[in-house]
Amino acid sequence: MPRKIILDVDTGSDDACAIMLAQLRPEIDLIAVCTVKGNQPIEYTTENTLRIRDLLHADFPVYKGCSGSLVKNVVYPRIPPTANADAYDEQGNKIHIHQELFDLPASDGKIEPLNAPNFYVDYLKNAKQPVTIVAVGPLTNLAVALIMEPQIVKNIEEIVIMGGGWNITNATLAAEFNIYDDPEAAQRVLHCGAKITMVPLDATHSAYISRKDAEALKAIGSPASLFAADLIERRIRVHDYAQPLEVKHSCALHDPLCIAYLIDPDVLKDVKLCNVEVSLSGLTEGQTCVDQRAIQEGRNVHFAFGGDPKRFAKILIEAFR
Ligand code: BDR
Ligand code: CA
Repeated sequence: MPRKIILDVDTGSDDACAIMLAQLRPEIDLIAVCTVKGNQPIEYTTENTLRIRDLLHADFPVYKGCSGSLVKNVVYPRIPPTANADAYDEQGNKIHIHQELFDLPASDGKIEPLNAPNFYVDYLKNAKQPVTIVAVGPLTNLAVALIMEPQIVKNIEEIVIMGGGWNITNATLAAEFNIYDDPEAAQRVLHCGAKITMVPLDATHSAYISRKDAEALKAIGSPASLFAADLIERRIRVHDYAQPLEVKHSCALHDPLCIAYLIDPDVLKDVKLCNVEVSLSGLTEGQTCVDQRAIQEGRNVHFAFGGDPKRFAKILIEAFR
């Protein structure tokens, strides 16, 4: 039976690929998509999500979520400077890793009347069977829902989070973007009591997607595969310039790796159950502190220290075929 999932996104180039993968693979039953601010403001991440839905001729419901973080930028200015993930083409024009709006036809704007946290509460309170939540943006929606109604956790089968980093960071010297964007929300979600699998930068960078994979997608020739190939090529240019991976001309395609894990758990490597806490202030704000000691208390997160590029590419390419 396909696994029922709710996807929480801040669409975003790699979020778009996660939506496409979830919609196209028969092992996944995409019951709803919630949007959150993150890569772009909420109006853009929502509109981008709707444009991808149209591209796929899909009809999953979209719930617009939080436009700001729980605490961040409300109470005090943040200390560590953030990095820009951009590159430049031959003419000196900036290539952004996430466009404001995708170069796709405007959507009809059709979203559900409930906002995302209310949807979580409503759906999970009444769910007949537990559901998996795949959260690939800042964790604000889920944190708000858990604050509103903590007992919804009983109907969560697993929360798969793209976020965090052990040896690799991107937003600051210590933090990965999704966690850095709303660290208080992340800390709350990590302690909600559900089974949590974390897919950090260490996993997404080692399960890289290559230019050859992008070419294979292009060769499929469908509107969705061509769009995905274009997003991946853009990401490769930015990675080569700003965040070079060990393998040249490749990129991390973070968010769809969470979907791939639900299809084939072996796409993640070196998964260890550890205590993971989020730093909430100072230079390390948003850092995921992963306890590696043999004896530790409060193991709350299955943390993936690596990923398998071949398995990942196969899952991705087969979906578009
Ligand atoms: C994460 O941040 C976002 O920019 C990506 O969509 C991904 O979810 C990677 O740090
Ligand atoms: Ca994302």
